[in-house]
Amino acid sequence: MTVLLTGADGYVGWPTALRIASRTDDRVVLVDNLARRNWVEEVGGTSATPIATPEVRLEAAKEVYDLHNLSFVEGDLTEKTFVDELLEVHEPDAVVHTAAQPSAPYSQINGERANYTQHNNLQATRNLLWGLDKHDLNDTHFIETTTTGVYGAPEFPIPEGGATMENQGERDNVPFPAMAGSWYHLTKSHDAANMRLAHKQFDIPISDVRTAIIYGTQTDETAADPRLSTRFDFDYYFGVVAHRFCAQAIAGYPTTVYGKGKQRKPFISLEDAVEGLARLALIDPDERPDDHVVYNQTTRAISIVEVANTIAEVGDRFDLNVSVEHFENPRDEDETHKMEIENERYMDLIGEQRQDFAAGIYNILETLVEHRETITCYEDRFLPGVLDDWEKEPANEKLAYDNNTELTSDAN
Ligand SMILES: NC(=O)c1ccc[n+]([C@@H]2O[C@H](COP(=O)([O-])OP(=O)(O)OC[C@H]3O[C@@H](n4cnc5c(N)ncnc54)[C@H](O)[C@@H]3O)[C@@H](O)[C@H]2O)c1
Repeated sequence: MTVLLTGADGYVGWPTALRIASRTDDRVVLVDNLARRNWVEEVGGTSATPIATPEVRLEAAKEVYDLHNLSFVEGDLTEKTFVDELLEVHEPDAVVHTAAQPSAPYSQINGERANYTQHNNLQATRNLLWGLDKHDLNDTHFIETTTTGVYGAPEFPIPEGGATMENQGERDNVPFPAMAGSWYHLTKSHDAANMRLAHKQFDIPISDVRTAIIYGTQTDETAADPRLSTRFDFDYYFGVVAHRFCAQAIAGYPTTVYGKGKQRKPFISLEDAVEGLARLALIDPDERPDDHVVYNQTTRAISIVEVANTIAEVGDRFDLNVSVEHFENPRDEDETHKMEIENERYMDLIGEQRQDFAAGIYNILETLVEHRETITCYEDRFLPGVLDDWEKEPANEKLAYDNNTELTSDAN
């Protein structure tokens, strides 16, 4: 068996690679074009945790875990010939597709970034799906991390998959993954629809993993050696809300919550996200619930005020003295939206939650106190609009604030 993992240099991809490789003797082929490193540099940010090159990481994986089944291919998945060659040579039994430009604020900077994000994400996924069909790999299990952001914030509990629609007395089950509110999130709505179509037309088994906001700096495998660390971003464009709040706490800033901050968003720890992806990559086809499955990859919805208060409480254990300040809300939003999201299928997959939110925040702060100097040196990156030559300052910043589920600059 061979597993192909795309986006393997990323925050989620790298720890997923280690977990999959440590659970099988089969080959795990990693692919990335290292674009994330460039985007973060472009916005003047940096990873708080120093990150090694893919070559050094693979060497460390051999030394620390005796993993000889990992290999790395550098390449751009938007190039069809590259993807065709990759699939023809490796003939994967499972593809775990985590490669994407994943930042909503970045996708909203200007039209160029919106075009880039939509082209990059959609073309990569289409190349993989059409490539699987072209090379008769129609039994290959295709697993993609989309996002819970495709659901928007409906008033009803979000089902794990489609919804029932009723019109003129008739009812049917329909997908509703097109409520995204940023140019990035909409790439995942399109991907969800394209995967559905690929399943219908090419008969490819699909797991559409709707990933929530991920928190954490480490998994069991990455914690063993600094060369195995995954990245941790805390700037406006690439830092998810809980991560940026933690970095702000380390730098001595109060945590600011707009209004009541009672609106809830779905979250999951890195540990629990990686576990689900590894299990799916290695799942026996007979154990898959179906051939087109949606998983809501979240353990719980959490309010922004709870995020802030947890950081303040856990921060006390590191003598951080974090205050939580409430400001008048400049956004037009329901500050009490009580998101409810079904996740039974995902919880069945992983068995149990491995790291709750408070433990995740402890893990983050424990890591970040070691990198306080990096954070204070880059603390101006907590704010948007740092590059003068951008065609347009992020005037649609409010849109990013309002709509973005997992990557945003403020109390989300
Ligand atoms: N981190 C979160 O909170 C979160 C939440 C919801 C969904 N997701 C999704 O999970 C996946 C992983 O997210 P992440 O946080 O690890 O992001 P990341 O940017 O750290 O990882 C994505 C990786 O894909 C690579 N990549 C992008 N375009 C590529 C291309 N054309 N060819 C080859 N490689 C390419 C990047 O270089 C990067 O290393 C993404 O699909 C993202 O949309 C993440």
